[in-house]
Amino acid sequence: MIEPPYSASPTRYDSAQMERCGRSGILLSKISLGFWHNFGATSPIYKSRAIMHTAFDNGITSFDLANNYGPPYGSAEETFGKIFKSDFKPYRDEMFISTKAGYDMWPGPYGNWGSRKYLMASLDQSLKRMGLDYVDVFYSHRFDPETPMDETLTALVDIVRQGKALYAGISRWPRQAEEYAYAFLENHGCHCLLFQDRLNIFDRESVSSGKLQASIDAGVGFIAFSPLAQGLLTNRYLNGIPQDSRATNSKFLNTDQITPELIARIQKLSELACKRGQTLAQMAVSWVLAHQGVTSAIVGSSSPEQLLDTVKSAENISFTQEELDIIDQI
Ligand SMILES: NC(=O)c1ccc[n+]([C@@H]2O[C@H](COP(=O)([O-])OP(=O)(O)OC[C@H]3O[C@@H](n4cnc5c(N)ncnc54)[C@H](OP(=O)(O)O)[C@@H]3O)[C@@H](O)[C@H]2O)c1
Repeated sequence: MIEPPYSASPTRYDSAQMERCGRSGILLSKISLGFWHNFGATSPIYKSRAIMHTAFDNGITSFDLANNYGPPYGSAEETFGKIFKSDFKPYRDEMFISTKAGYDMWPGPYGNWGSRKYLMASLDQSLKRMGLDYVDVFYSHRFDPETPMDETLTALVDIVRQGKALYAGISRWPRQAEEYAYAFLENHGCHCLLFQDRLNIFDRESVSSGKLQASIDAGVGFIAFSPLAQGLLTNRYLNGIPQDSRATNSKFLNTDQITPELIARIQKLSELACKRGQTLAQMAVSWVLAHQGVTSAIVGSSSPEQLLDTVKSAENISFTQEELDIIDQI
């Protein structure tokens, strides 16, 4: 079947919620779309396409990819590239597109971690897969304890100087290394735009470790991944484990984690969300966005309907102290 050409909704910015990214000229949509799941070669492209359309039509300008998203590795970037080519080329300058390198990508010693050789080669491959001349931000996906930080960071600076990325970012670096990276990049005239780390109601390590505060202090935007704890912080598992869910189909979310005790906690959170006039997914993302210094929350979605639900989270991010206390207690 021939698909009709895509034309973006003319109302896409009418209720879009934007946030300034640290000390920079960039405004990011408070909700970003993540490509970790649902964009690989195993997902039907018509579904991925519908999710991208829904995102852009509803004011999402920020798209988060990585070299190894799939499965198989690289295929999420390929899917993005196909949809970009057919539908989004006219909108390139309205999109903020990121990719990363840091995890295992190809065999041998040069397809992993943080060497200059890996980062440079990986970004070239990513650009080809996505059909882009440049990405908006390129991240070191994880801290490499064996490679000198200066090597990884100099590669980021040079990538920006080459114009293959407009900005540099780091993801999942430990606190002290994070602060070192900010200072190094600043001293090399390449202010770090974004720090990417996990933050959700169940996992607050980025706050307790001081990583969020360190990014605020350095004027670096903080972009939170897995705000829904991979779907646990939604109504998805309240009545059993659905066949089409991540817990059933992905090695990254284990069904053993979904205990009756956890379900009881999720149920209580869902009741609180209902009192706030939100779905649990919306409350969970609102809770992340309510943290001072959080620029954007990167959500995953397996359908346009899920994304339409979560995108509304940015509309109500104020919590009473009582609500926050109940969430902490649960
Ligand atoms: N830097 C890093 O190391 C790193 C690590 C992880 C993720 N990330 C980024 O963060 C993005 C998001 O991570 P994530 O996928 O774990 O995010 P998430 O938003 O915590 O979880 C997404 C999952 O939640 C479920 N869901 C979403 N909206 C829902 C709704 N409204 N109602 C019910 N269920 C809903 C879906 O599960 P089902 O599929 O079961 O329907 C969806 O796949 C990734 O795509 C990636 O871009 C970065």
